[in-house]
This record gives sequence, structure tokens and C-alpha cells, in this order.
Amino acid sequence: MTVSTANKVVLGLQWGDEGKGKVIDMLAGSTDYVVRCQGGANAGHTVVCNGKKTVLHLLPSGALHKEALCIIGNGVVVDPVALSEELASLEGSDVNLEARLRVSDRAHMVLPYHKLLDAANEAKRGDKKVGTTLRGIGPCYGHKMSRQGLRCGQILLDNFEDLLRSQLVATNKHLKELGEDGFDIDEMHAQVLPYCEALRPYVTDTVALLHEAVKEDKCMLFEGAQGVMLDIDFGTYPYVTSSNTGVGGVVTGSGLNHKNVGEIIGIVKAYTTRVGEGPFPTELDDAGAEELRQRGGEFGATTGRPRRTGWLDLVVVAYACRLNGMDSIALTKLDVLSTGDDLPVCVAYELDGQRLDTVPASLEDLARVKPVYETLPGWSEDISSCRSYDDLPKAAQDYVRFVEAQTGVRVGYIGVGPDREETIVCPS
Ligand code: IMP
Repeated sequence: MTVSTANKVVLGLQWGDEGKGKVIDMLAGSTDYVVRCQGGANAGHTVVCNGKKTVLHLLPSGALHKEALCIIGNGVVVDPVALSEELASLEGSDVNLEARLRVSDRAHMVLPYHKLLDAANEAKRGDKKVGTTLRGIGPCYGHKMSRQGLRCGQILLDNFEDLLRSQLVATNKHLKELGEDGFDIDEMHAQVLPYCEALRPYVTDTVALLHEAVKEDKCMLFEGAQGVMLDIDFGTYPYVTSSNTGVGGVVTGSGLNHKNVGEIIGIVKAYTTRVGEGPFPTELDDAGAEELRQRGGEFGATTGRPRRTGWLDLVVVAYACRLNGMDSIALTKLDVLSTGDDLPVCVAYELDGQRLDTVPASLEDLARVKPVYETLPGWSEDISSCRSYDDLPKAAQDYVRFVEAQTGVRVGYIGVGPDREETIVCPS
């Protein structure tokens, strides 16, 4: 498969789980660097190659290609325990990352106490809980923003053990203020230290490294985690993650500038899913939801939670395209819709008798909107062996064209099955 070698960004345009892992993996074969810029081990990127499934959480999905240098950028929150486990899980495979993984010295560390804080915060919210992955993401970004965090670069300092200890003391106090039991400081210190030590060889100034790479005209792939509707600024706040999941996060999370990012590819699942709480206008709540969940295998790659499912919401997708200056869309899991049934697609919202063409900022409004659907004819043919747009049944082609017409963005790739090869590349 031929792909251009210009820099590329891959972003999720819904609530995450759009199938970014597969597209990234497909593009990573022709890139020198794969760069993660935000999020942490909350992500679950599934890659299937020759029938073998690998789920990555913190490592860039492009890691499975044997050549690319893998960068965990400054905007990522790095869990040294999760990273060690993920590296260990690849041992024995032919993927050796020792020589080609770099972790930013500016990236903040997620430590076990962040997970305790995450759980405590969720418990405190009661029925207003966010439904986080409990991976400590929010508390770690919270520490970063309130200038209390520990950065990976600090592992290299002689006084790191003291720095870690003072963090443990402060967080333990905070946990107890929240009514939690807290933890044994010596025990936690002894538990965490070896994982931080193990991170040491990978820690470097990735900002300088990436700027050098730009000078040398290296090709980069920036891989987003989560999706635009989980963005801390533009998503369904507070039912969001704690980073900028769009192109802004690529810039602030890599240290490169907007001129370096190249082509922006948005990943859109042919229907919609979300995990965790928060409004979801096109959500199905009957047997149809379960059928779509089973057909699409919609269970969280990180937490195993069943995902909420619903029809394609093009108000959301068009909003995400506008925010991020999309060059093309990769439409994933189109094969899941091959049931022969008609396919409702949301093209606008209605709120108090008014038509809305964008996502309102108010959560209360979004929870009240009624989706305006256009119903497209379905198809029943198995499309998993289609390898060109022309191979698709007419109704499936029309579905693709409808997405393009409503968003104003070209569909460049179509996913027709989980394997790397089960992809249609549409000529531009
Ligand atoms: P957190 O990122 O663990 O703080 O979770 C905040 C929200 O983002 C929750 O609704 C999670 O379910 C959701 N979330 C976080 N990471 C992912 C992901 O990779 N895919 C889908 N949803 C995610």
C-alpha cells in the first residue's frame, strides 16, 4: 500500500475508540518517528496483524513497526509501572524497543497515588462520577497544572529519592483530607523507585530531538489518544479526559510548532460509541444498542467496560473537523453496519424547537437535544474482502459520500475489518 511520506497527525473525532490504533499502525510503516503527545495509559490502541491482537496503552501504536523511533512526548503523562509492564509484555516478540524508545524529560509521571486520588475523586462525585479509567490521569494533569508534579527528567537528578518522598508525604496528606486511608510512605517509596529507575535510560530531551529530526527532514507520525469530544476544552466537560485531544495537544505535547504537523487525518467510526458517563445524543438504549455492541466488539481495550453505542453523529464529527482543520477522514468499522437495515445518521440537533448545527457548550443543553436523523439505505453484503471503493455495494458507497458531504472532508481510508490489510485506501 503506498502512502505519502509527509508528516501526519491521527486524531479521534468522536469519544475515543474510533480505531486509531489500526490506522496509525498502517501509516507507521513509512515513517521515521511515531510521537505520542497527550494522554497516558488510559488509552487502549488495538492493533491486529496477521490475526494477532496487541493492545497498547502508553507506547505509541507505531511501536509495532520495527524501524520507527518511538517518542513519548512532553504532553503525555507517563506511568512508569504501566510502561514497564507494557515493555515486558512485548518481550519475546520481535518488537524490541530498547534502542528506539525515548521519553520526554518534561513529561509528568503518573504514580500509584494518582490512581488512589482518581478513585477518591470519583467516589466523592457519587452519581456525578465521570467514569474515568482510574489510571490516575486527571490527578496527574492536576498536579502538573498546579505546579506540584514530578517530571520524568527529575529521575535523573541525584536528589530524586527525596523529591519522590516529599510528593508521597504531600499526597498522603491530601488523601487523608479527602477521608481516605492513605498509604504507607516507605512501602510506596520502595514500590515505585525501581520502576522510575527502569525509566531512566529512555528519558531525554525529546523536544530538542524532534527539532533535530525536523532539520534532517525526518518523517513523523503524531498519534492522538482519546477523541475530540473528550477534549478538556472542547468536549463534554466535565465528562472528558484531562488533556487536549486535538491538534492543539499535538503542538503543546511535542514541542514542535503548527507548521511541522503536516496532514491531519481524523478517525471516525461508522457509528458512535462512548465509555464513561456524559451526554450522548444518538445513543441507543434498547436491544439495538446491545446488537451494535456485540457486532462491533465494543468493550473497552483498557478497562473491558461495555461501551455505550449509537448512530453516527455527524454534528459531532463536523464540529471536530472544524476545530482541527481536517485533511481527510478514515472511516472505520464500516463492515459492522452490514446488516441490511436502514441506517439513521444524525445531521443536526433540535433544542426547544430550534435547529442546531453545532455542539452546544452547555452540558445541560447537549443532554436535552433531539437528534435530527436522515435515514440511509443499508446493505447486507459482507464487505470485509473489499479492497477498493468500487468493490463496495452502492449503499455503502453512498454512506461514505454522505459523510463527506456533511463534513466537507474527503474520506481517504475505509476500514472493513480489524486486520491491517482490511482497509480501503481511496484515491485522492
Ligand atoms: P480518564 O481519561 O481516565 O480521566 O477518563 C475520563 C473520561 O475519558 C472517561 O469517560 C473515560 O472513559 C474516557 N476515556 C479515557 N481514555 C479513553 C480512551 O482511550 N477511549 C475512550 N474513552 C476514554
